[in-house]
Amino acid sequence: MAKVLVATDKPFAPVAVDGIRQVVEAAGMELALLEKYTEKAQLLTAIADVDAVIIRSDIIDAEVLDAAKNLKIVVRAGAGYDNVDLDAATAKGVCVMNTPGQNSNAVAELVFGMLVYAVRNFYNGTAGTELKGKKLGILAYGNVGRNVARIAKGFGMEVYAYDAYTPISAIEADGVIPVESTAALFSTCPVISLHIPATAETKGSINFDLMNSMPKGAIVVNTARKEVIDEAGLVQMFEIRPDFKYMSDIKPAIDAELAGAYPGRYFATPKKMGAQTAEANINAGIAAAEQIVDFLQNGNEKYRVNK
Ligand code: 3PG
Repeated sequence: MAKVLVATDKPFAPVAVDGIRQVVEAAGMELALLEKYTEKAQLLTAIADVDAVIIRSDIIDAEVLDAAKNLKIVVRAGAGYDNVDLDAATAKGVCVMNTPGQNSNAVAELVFGMLVYAVRNFYNGTAGTELKGKKLGILAYGNVGRNVARIAKGFGMEVYAYDAYTPISAIEADGVIPVESTAALFSTCPVISLHIPATAETKGSINFDLMNSMPKGAIVVNTARKEVIDEAGLVQMFEIRPDFKYMSDIKPAIDAELAGAYPGRYFATPKKMGAQTAEANINAGIAAAEQIVDFLQNGNEKYRVNK
């Protein structure tokens, strides 16, 4: 009987685990759970005999893959798969998939949770501003970016986007204004929402010069990855631009320093919360389970991300 492990340092909502269990057991497979683990050794033990694993931001490196003697597939229940060593998986003949789009509305909603908090001065009682009429720049127009655009229009924002890989016509079809570069997006919009993945190309790419080109009242919201921000540039931005606010769903390494130095201008969630809704957990978790069943039973590799 094939065995599927759910290994989540940050657990899914119980209702999502119930759904995953139903899919796995209906396919005649066994489900094992490793939640809230604190040591890598626990993952190395739990993964040793499984055929498939569902993860979130959990690290699957060469050591974990070496320990997983029967592993055939890893599904990252979510969008970004920078936490999986794709080359090591390919070398071991392990298929890696993600579940694109399944948690994107949840992440997009959190963008606005943090934006309202920012423009209302962290609810400190003073008069803030409104989002209506403000220019919002969406960097990368994928599943999350599109949901951010949809919600932004409800707020009455003027929405701009840059994406090197999405046709301009697709952006325009959503009533969003395409710009020709990241630099143009930052210099046009006082509010920027980041949706780029962490890649060799994007790491550290959101730097001081880009942020400092933003119009007055600059707010950067990061629900993407902490690695895309140049942290030295971020500190410089806080120092030089008293109007600047940074709202992040991923704590930078210098979280404590920023929180101490810039209260009311810097906010980070205690743990990445973008995808942490029951709905997103159900969508991504069940999609992951279904993809595993389809892969193990029929060889379907539709969402494979490693070659
Ligand atoms: C993603 O890439 O899907 C999001 O960053 C969500 O990550 P999480 O599953 O760790 O919350």
